[in-house]
Amino acid sequence: MTIRAVITGTGSYLPRARVTNNDLVARGIDTTDVWIFQRTGIKARHIADDTEPTSFMAARAAERAIAAAGLTAADIDGIIVATTTPDRTFPSTAVTVQAELGIAPCMAFDVQAVCSGFVYALSVASSLIGTGGAKNILVIGAERFTNLIDWNDRTTCVLFGDGAGAVVVRAEQGTGTMHDRGVLASHLYADGNQAGILCATGGPGTTRTTGVTHMEGREVFKHAVTHMASIVDEALVKNGLNADDIDWLIPHQANLRIITATADRLGMSMDQVVVTVDGHGNTSAASIPLALDVAVRDGRVKSGQLIMLEALGAGLTWGAVILRL
Ligand SMILES: CC(C)(COP(=O)(O)OP(=O)(O)OC[C@H]1O[C@@H](n2cnc3c(N)ncnc32)[C@H](O)[C@@H]1OP(=O)(O)O)[C@@H](O)C(=O)NCCC(=O)NCCS
Repeated sequence: MTIRAVITGTGSYLPRARVTNNDLVARGIDTTDVWIFQRTGIKARHIADDTEPTSFMAARAAERAIAAAGLTAADIDGIIVATTTPDRTFPSTAVTVQAELGIAPCMAFDVQAVCSGFVYALSVASSLIGTGGAKNILVIGAERFTNLIDWNDRTTCVLFGDGAGAVVVRAEQGTGTMHDRGVLASHLYADGNQAGILCATGGPGTTRTTGVTHMEGREVFKHAVTHMASIVDEALVKNGLNADDIDWLIPHQANLRIITATADRLGMSMDQVVVTVDGHGNTSAASIPLALDVAVRDGRVKSGQLIMLEALGAGLTWGAVILRL
């Protein structure tokens, strides 16, 4: 018997303030709408204020996912939050979400894999469900990444945004084949030798500060294109799939050029790729569940379809998940 982690509800939250590229120019950043859009595909991002900390966004996204699943907080028996920007250094954002939603004692913890955080968290949730450890797990990606930005560094500050996305995964019996609904495969990697090309400049264990984002953009770009190509190939080959078996690619939303290169590799039309980077910017661990929720709610992505998620983030970390909705 195979127990699958099936996504039964999705939800998301975007901060109230929408900030366009031209708004950034108006704020005095030495950039242009044309430069940002041509290099990244970004037109706007949402930026949280102090009434919208990471846990607040996570909780709103989670409420919507729980409602979409037809459940209540009483049904949840696990919470995993993927975040790089927890409200506090400790305890985890997951326990704050738990308290805010009135969820009874259960496992609750954060996963730190930066922009790959959601694919890591979903894989962990699937494993926990597969071994009978929980029945309904909330898996959330939530970030107030703009708090880690140096607004004087135009090479990074134009790229990021804030937000949260959530799913509820439920334990359901499967047959053990790729025809099951649920998380069917995950392929996760990290290479700590590349930590320096994308990192925060501080941390509680060293500087006692959070630091700000440092990125060697061209290096990250090269790694992203290479690793995304290899991870999607691996995910297909190891699971006996062809690219045309995949209905939707839902990639991490960092840069439209990286997304397009991955879709090309799969021979997929951009009509089969969910793109939200234009309106959200790079929301790190929140970007995939945000994109999934958008596409579920607008009716593009439907129950029964085969979906590939893929991401690369600081670490470097990268990975892909294949799931049937
Ligand atoms: C960041 C990124 C868009 C930069 O694009 P790029 O083509 O590599 O640009 P470069 O950094 O080489 O800079 C090119 C020029 O634009 C300038 N520039 C940088 N940021 C700018 C901005 N916001 N506005 C205007 N000009 C800018 C640079 O100063 C440089 O000028 P110069 O040629 O006179 O020195 C690109 O490297 C990238 O997308 N990298 C991957 C980022 C990513 O995905 N990160 C997250 C992974 S989770």
